[in-house]
Amino acid sequence: MSTTSAPTILTGLRVNSEFTLGNFLGALLPMVRLANAHSGANPANQAHSANTESTQPSHINIFVPDLHSIIAEVDGELQQNLIKSLKYYLAAGLKLTPHVHLYRQSRVPAHSELCWILNCVASMGELNRMTQYKDKSEGKDSVNVGIFDYPVLMAADILLYDAVYVPVGEDQFQHLELTRRLAQRFNNRFGEIFTLPAEPKDQIKFMNLSEGIRIRDLQNPEKKMSKSAASENSKIMLSDDPTAVKKKIMSATTDSVGKIQFDMFNQPGISNLLQIEAIVTGLPLQDVISTWAGETHYGDLKQKVAESVSTFLATFQAKLAEIPDSAVLDLLAAGETYANEVANAKLYQVQKAFHLR
Ligand code: TRP
Repeated sequence: MSTTSAPTILTGLRVNSEFTLGNFLGALLPMVRLANAHSGANPANQAHSANTESTQPSHINIFVPDLHSIIAEVDGELQQNLIKSLKYYLAAGLKLTPHVHLYRQSRVPAHSELCWILNCVASMGELNRMTQYKDKSEGKDSVNVGIFDYPVLMAADILLYDAVYVPVGEDQFQHLELTRRLAQRFNNRFGEIFTLPAEPKDQIKFMNLSEGIRIRDLQNPEKKMSKSAASENSKIMLSDDPTAVKKKIMSATTDSVGKIQFDMFNQPGISNLLQIEAIVTGLPLQDVISTWAGETHYGDLKQKVAESVSTFLATFQAKLAEIPDSAVLDLLAAGETYANEVANAKLYQVQKAFHLR
């Protein structure tokens, strides 16, 4: 199945029912662009992409690590939130081709089984060194084993599908390194069964993330916009009411310089508004900056950005509302059939290596 394809791209999307505009820019859009550029959705794009070794489409595996979710408290909302998160990616423009596969980790039992087998390859010492584990267990009386074993399940997620490119945040690079180490150790013992995912530096090159724009908190523009900010006025949520959101923009913190220019250091509030305008209109930041060069009325800028954000949210929410749950469930059913087939074939090779078959 994969012999005629370019390297597989795989990512796990944490269940997230609330996205800020910052998440849209930092997580949704990059993943959607990457998928669309490699899934055969846009052949012209693919032939000219500097990143692609081949003009063949890649398999794009986008899965929800629901077994990872339960290392923490979850509730009856999990299913609904899971479907909602996937809808966000679809509304953000994820194109569906026969190479795009959506699935839930818990519906592909091979993940759990390979995790167990890899537990017998991994050492306590190397898991003890994982920063995420150290952070999550620090100062706690009792820590569940799932938190400790999290990276091994993640390795299984990746190795079952021979994934080469695994777009994740930097905080997950240590887990990627562990995945490579476990795969290498296994292959040394049993032969070339696993494909090693690319090294973090090559992952970064492949992701080709643009400019590193960070949307800032509207009230405290020195800080990045976070959904956990205490004040509602600090953040723009993709679910915000398109009319009410205008007030948030109008009350954004600015400065007393009196010039509209891009200067993140001295004028973080104004610079943030210019960035937001660029994102929601889809214009290059440079164009937005030029349009406002020489202007001095902050109120005019705010009004324009408020309008743009309002239009953007209304459009996005309309797209979201058009996607029925059943469409997502159908995609999952198809994706899970595919994923089980690929994963079980790999698992079988591993079971044979361990004389389990
Ligand atoms: N650990 C990832 C995160 O926190 C989610 C994840 C689980 C993942 N399994 C994965 C990402 C496999 C990529 C590949 O974001």
